[in-house]
Amino acid sequence: MSELTIALVTGANKGIGYEIAAALGALGHSVGVGARDAARGEAATARLRAAGVDAFPVPLDVTDDGSVAAAAELLDARAGRLDVLVNNAGITGGRPQEPTVVDPATIRAVVETNVIGVVRVTNAMLPLLRRSAAPRIVNLSSTVGSLTRQSEPGDGTGPISAAYAPSKTFLNAVTVQYAKELRGTGVLVNAACPGYCATDLNGFRGVRTPAQGAAVAVRLATLPDGGPSGAFFDDGGELPW
Ligand SMILES: NC(=O)c1ccc[n+]([C@@H]2O[C@H](COP(=O)([O-])OP(=O)(O)OC[C@H]3O[C@@H](n4cnc5c(N)ncnc54)[C@H](OP(=O)(O)O)[C@@H]3O)[C@@H](O)[C@H]2O)c1
Repeated sequence: MSELTIALVTGANKGIGYEIAAALGALGHSVGVGARDAARGEAATARLRAAGVDAFPVPLDVTDDGSVAAAAELLDARAGRLDVLVNNAGITGGRPQEPTVVDPATIRAVVETNVIGVVRVTNAMLPLLRRSAAPRIVNLSSTVGSLTRQSEPGDGTGPISAAYAPSKTFLNAVTVQYAKELRGTGVLVNAACPGYCATDLNGFRGVRTPAQGAAVAVRLATLPDGGPSGAFFDDGGELPW
């Protein structure tokens, strides 16, 4: 078995996921570059390798059972275990998303990727994570999923949304349930908000760089034993659910 720390980042071909892969690589991790499009994954892997990262491509569509199973097989064959899983892949579902006009199909598609995709990937990878001495799972969430923040008067936490924001609330709830079930196993699972970053997701309107957004996920991916589990963080510290 490899002595290197083995990480998998979903949706790592661009945006925050790419920067998480780059930062974990800079820490010396061997990084699986999850990408649903093989060519985009190969291109991102080549860029990371050119930057000195021990990166390898992992074809992975989080909405596809067969693709996820194949990714787990690839990692098993390559390393025999997984130390870090970053569930980063996500979609907004586009507009409109006001609850009074949203197309239910939009909600279904967003939940399929942002929530069920995380469960599908996590469960496929857990047998490999359980072989790690220090398994860590990080789910990319958002303060738009914080019911506390969304309920504050005059909140500045994004547009009214019946698909994207609730999908992150659902993801937060699932994160807590994983932490509950995995308590005492050594697997630490937390949710991270990267802040409002300039990526394709928001037409590059974000005010932070994707690298700045990656930092909190990297911190949670490298928590020491005994660190928090079942909690929600951004760069400023713990967030309310
Ligand atoms: N940007 C922000 O301000 C912000 C704020 C809070 C939270 N977040 C969260 O941070 C995460 C990364 O977002 P980002 O801003 O970096 O977005 P992005 O630039 O749009 O990147 C999203 C990534 O997810 C991938 N993806 C989408 N659906 C997938 C699927 N079914 N299977 C596998 N990969 C899939 C995309 O692949 P393709 O290239 O093939 O489309 C892409 O690699 C998301 O979970 C997002 O909700 C972002």
